[in-house]
Amino acid sequence: MTFWFNSDRERGRIFAEAFARDLPDLPFIMDATQVDPDDISYVLTWTAPPDLDRFKNLEIVFSIGAGVDQFRVENLASGVKLVRMIEDGIVRMMQEYVTLAVLALHRNLKAYLMQQTEGKWQALPARQAADRRIGVLGLGMLGQAVIARLMPFGFPLSGWSRAPRQIDGVRCHHGAESLASFLGETDILVCLLPLTEETRGILDARLFAALPPGASLIHVGRGAQLDHDALIDALDMHQLSGAVIDVTEPEPLPPEHPFWRHPRIMLTPHIASVTQPGTAARSVIENIKRHRAGLDPIGLVDRTRGY
Ligand code: NDP
Ligand code: OXD
Repeated sequence: MTFWFNSDRERGRIFAEAFARDLPDLPFIMDATQVDPDDISYVLTWTAPPDLDRFKNLEIVFSIGAGVDQFRVENLASGVKLVRMIEDGIVRMMQEYVTLAVLALHRNLKAYLMQQTEGKWQALPARQAADRRIGVLGLGMLGQAVIARLMPFGFPLSGWSRAPRQIDGVRCHHGAESLASFLGETDILVCLLPLTEETRGILDARLFAALPPGASLIHVGRGAQLDHDALIDALDMHQLSGAVIDVTEPEPLPPEHPFWRHPRIMLTPHIASVTQPGTAARSVIENIKRHRAGLDPIGLVDRTRGY
């Protein structure tokens, strides 16, 4: 039995120390050519290596990220478990990023930065938090964490999920039939959905039209959920007033892409949240211990849902 760390060496060093300390009986390698492929039981990786079916005794594929769409779960042998990353570092960074983005949109930061470059000293109309409704698409680990962090500001909060959810202080909607009513009461929409066949392309012209005029978007889910042309049209027609975009398809965006220079788009290179090796190693070790004890790992992907 061997654990294969298939990612960058810097984080690998931190993982290796944690494994040596907390799981000393499990050999830890960073180069799979060092061992017989039959010895590998666990791999931690961002995407599935092309020759994954070489590892006949593989039990768990751990995603180094919270998202798992980059793995084609249907291509993994049926006995292999796919586990997404659940760790405090990802959660904290996503809370920071979405709070930053909400406040930037709420307080017109992009417009003021542009005014600064023009040497213009001019106050813009300001809205109270109580009059700015935030709606979060996806009420999972990250959607709920972001909502908890936003709560003290006093924004009215709502969320949308597949199955019914109950969260104190949050208007919870679920299912495709309630999407339009959720959108109709959302001034800043945050997308924290996993990419699945159901959510691919969900941020499209129809969705933008269902938001109140002047609403804005924070997209931190996955690039393929967003129709880029529809976003540009919605911004240019003033249906939307602004967008903060962290994920795109493709990544990176080509240099001529309109998002780079759009006056109402703030763009970041998929950095909203990054797996932190210290906390991530603890979470993977805990999951291996659970698996050895016959329990399901935390973050086990449901193959039928795709997340
Ligand atoms: P979870 O699996 O914990 O939560 C997913 C949520 O989305 C659930 O509430 C789920 O509903 C809801 N959902 C899924 N499909 C649908 C659907 N068809 N209709 C309505 N709701 C749906 O995921 P996380 O919160 O951990 O992560 C969300 C995503 O964030 C990741 O998949 C990844 O793509 C992205 N991400 C982006 C990062 C970045 O840096 N930009 C970093 C980390 C993650 P239900 O509760 O009913 O199951
Ligand atoms: C993730 C990501 O899924 O970085 O963790 O996007």
